[in-house]
This record gives sequence, structure tokens and C-alpha cells, in this order.
Amino acid sequence: MAEFPDVRTLPLDETARAALAERGLEYRLIENERAAVMEAWSHAVRRGFAGSELTAEEVADWREPMSWRRVTGVYDSASPQADRPIATASSWVAPMTVPGGTLPSWAVSTVTVAATHRRRGVARQLLEAELRDAHAAGVPAAGLTASEATIYSRYGFGPATKIATWKVDARRARWAAPDAPGRVQYIDREDAALLMGQLHERTLPARVGEIPGWPRRWRGRVALAEDKNDVARAVRYVDEAGEPRGVMAYQIEGNPESDRGGELTIRYLIAEDDVALAALWRFALEHDLVGTVTAHMRPVDEPLPWLIDDARVAVSSVTDHGWLRILDVPASLEARTYAADASVILRVTDPQGYADGTWRVDIADGRALVTESEDEPDVALSVVELSAVYLGGFSLPVLRAAGRATGSAEAIDALDAALRVPRAPFLSIVY
Ligand SMILES: CC(C)(COP(=O)(O)OP(=O)(O)OC[C@H]1O[C@@H](n2cnc3c(N)ncnc32)[C@H](O)[C@@H]1OP(=O)(O)O)[C@@H](O)C(=O)NCCC(=O)NCCS
Repeated sequence: MAEFPDVRTLPLDETARAALAERGLEYRLIENERAAVMEAWSHAVRRGFAGSELTAEEVADWREPMSWRRVTGVYDSASPQADRPIATASSWVAPMTVPGGTLPSWAVSTVTVAATHRRRGVARQLLEAELRDAHAAGVPAAGLTASEATIYSRYGFGPATKIATWKVDARRARWAAPDAPGRVQYIDREDAALLMGQLHERTLPARVGEIPGWPRRWRGRVALAEDKNDVARAVRYVDEAGEPRGVMAYQIEGNPESDRGGELTIRYLIAEDDVALAALWRFALEHDLVGTVTAHMRPVDEPLPWLIDDARVAVSSVTDHGWLRILDVPASLEARTYAADASVILRVTDPQGYADGTWRVDIADGRALVTESEDEPDVALSVVELSAVYLGGFSLPVLRAAGRATGSAEAIDALDAALRVPRAPFLSIVY
């Protein structure tokens, strides 16, 4: 990945600063080494996501992940709690996995505006500033996960990865796959968090749409941070040589001794190979006193239905998850590999200008060469749709059917075939 400046040293965007100042608000870069400032900022984020007040321990937990980010806040000096920002954001440059490599993406996170200051254009200032900063730093794309699907298209973001919630009536699910040769073992949650980090790092290249995680993310998955509890447990799968190949955090709620049985929720499951993945699913499905198994934030192409004798018992509901915003079309298209050859003139519209233009896209031997063109386009779409299909998780012919892309069926199909990936793009964390 190309070297980018330390985002923490970049100056505040002047346009947003001036626009907010006109409304009596102060846009500030947060000195995240100053504990008191960060504490008030962290409380504001939690309040923004409608959570309870943070405990002292939780405030301390926030420091590490914020130490490597650029942290910003908007302050209202007229507020009785003037030390708490009325709006927050943080960002960093994350290498997002794409076919054949990584795409540097400007990750935007912790975007909140206080309920007292909502719908006055404050978030718009923050988001537009983040995109200007990313573009000025030469970062070819921006990424985020969204609390609601209606917020970010106006800034050029498109949904690029999906997640599924899988629900299984465990009492009807009979295991139909081979026995795993290794063993499933309980482990301490601290150890599980470490193993999650290691396995995530090792398996990153196998899925497109992922970004690296960080310690607090894994501690959250085992309920030692964020929604802490003492109900969660962790198991790992070790292969015949005793090597850990997978780890799962889960919790059981409800009344395990009732007719319905307990409800087992998989908090996080990561495996280095298919055998480990299957073994951990089996552990959950065959757990005694459990009636239902639910797993959130899982791939849409989970092999689960093929592991049990009645595929209908595994029910999934799908939603968008990772959002992508291409800022530099040639750099983004040239960063990934392709499944088929194609040659198209591509017209991209972008109200914010960054990705706007017409390009000749020549894809041969798995690589794209993208040059500016003045020819008539074969395919036309906006940056939102281009960002949505970029990882191969959404179908260009389907977008065409919805009127979200235009072009001949041949050109659309050719570009779509080039963009396809063997496994569904998947981002396993929230940021
Ligand atoms: C989402 C949030 C940041 C928006 O902040 P805001 O300052 O009210 O947003 P703005 O006033 O700048 O709105 C800008 C535009 O987005 C729209 N918008 C804002 N929030 C929206 C939402 N939740 N759903 C749909 N549209 C939304 C506004 O209507 C406005 O539209 P327009 O200018 O294109 O006509 C704020 O409501 C919030 O903090 N929500 C809770 C935390 C959260 O969900 N954060 C997002 C994390 S991913």
C-alpha cells in the first residue's frame, strides 16, 4: 500500500470550519492524548448512539482505538455541557481488501450529531470535510459502516458488502457434514480476543471488503468491552496437530430448561479453514439445552445450509454492511484484479466532482488500464452505483434493471463478468 501522511497531523478542513463558525459552532481537532478531552468526546459519541453513560473503565477502553485516528469534534460554547462536543467523527487510512490486493480507504467512524443539534447540516459539514481531506491526501476511496441505509448515498457512498443474520431452529437441524478431525475447546475470553485478532489478520486476504481490526474490537466481540457481560463464553477449534484454526464467542440466554430451550447467539466466529468453521457451527447447533442459534454479521454465502440435513432450517436475512465511496476512479479500478476481460467506455457522474468523468476501461489478463476518454459511453452510472459494484458484491445487470445504470446489455454483462468474485465480499466488523 502506498504511504500516506499520518492523518492525525492533517490540518482541519477550512471550509467546514468556516461554515460551522458561521453557526456559532467550533470545529476542532481533538488532541487525543489529553484524557479529559477524550473522555468528554467519548461520552458524546456514546450519547450520539443512544447508549448509556460510559463507565470510567469504558472511557479508558476508548483511548487505544482513538490514539491512531484523527479525531474531530464540533463544540457549542452556549451549551451547559460545553466540554462535550455536539458532533463527533474520527478517521484513518485502512487497507481494504480487494481482489488481488488492497485499496487504501479513508475509514470514517463515530459520526454523531447531538439530538439537540440534528438536521442543521452539521453532519454534512463533517462528511464533506472528511472526503475533501481524503482526496487531498491522495486516498482513492472512503469507507464506513452505516447505522441507517439512508444517510450516506448523498455523499457518494454505495453499499458494497452485505451481511446476513442466520437463525437456526437447532432442534430440527441435524448435522450432515463429515466429522471434524480436531477438537473444540473452551478458552479464556482474553485469549479468544487475541486469537480472533490473529485469525482475522491471517484470513484477511481471503475475503474482499475487510479492513484490519484492533484489540478493542476483539475484546468487544468476547463481551470484555462495549456491551460487556459475564454470560459470553469462547471456544476454539484446534486441528489434529493442536494448531488453533478457529474461534467463536457466544452467549446463551432465555430459559435453557424451558420447552423452547435457550437462545444461543454467536457473537463472533472466525475460522482459518472450512473444517474449523464447520466444527464451530456444529458446536453451536448441537449445544445441549439450546433451541435457537442466531448469528449476526455473517457472510451471505455461509456454507451452513449445506452442513445440515434440512437446509430450510437455516433462515437468513440480508442487509447492507460495508459502504464504499470511490474518490479516484483510475486508482480504484486499477487496484483490483478481474475475473474476465472487458473493454468499456465508462461514464461516472459524481455531484461532488471527485469521481466525475468518462474513462476507457480496458481489462485484460486480470488487470485494468483506465484512461480518460471523450468517446460515447457504453455504461453510465453514478459514483454510488460504481462503488456498490466495485467489490463484486452487487450485480450491475440488477442495477440496470432498477434504472440505476444504463448501457447495452452486452457492455453491462461484460463489465459485470469482470467484476465478479468467487466468494461474497464480506466485512466482519463494524467501524
Ligand atoms: C445521522 C446523523 C449523524 C445526521 O446528522 P445531522 O447533523 O442531523 O445531519 P445533517 O443535518 O447534516 O443532514 C444532512 C442530510 O442528511 C439527511 N439525513 C441526516 N440524517 C439522516 C437519517 N438518519 N436518515 C435519512 N437522512 C438523513 C438530512 O435530511 C440532510 O438531507 P439533505 O441535506 O440531503 O436534504 C445524526 O442524526 C446522528 O448522530 N444520528 C445518530 C448516530 C448515528 O446514527 N450516526 C451515524 C453513524 S454511521
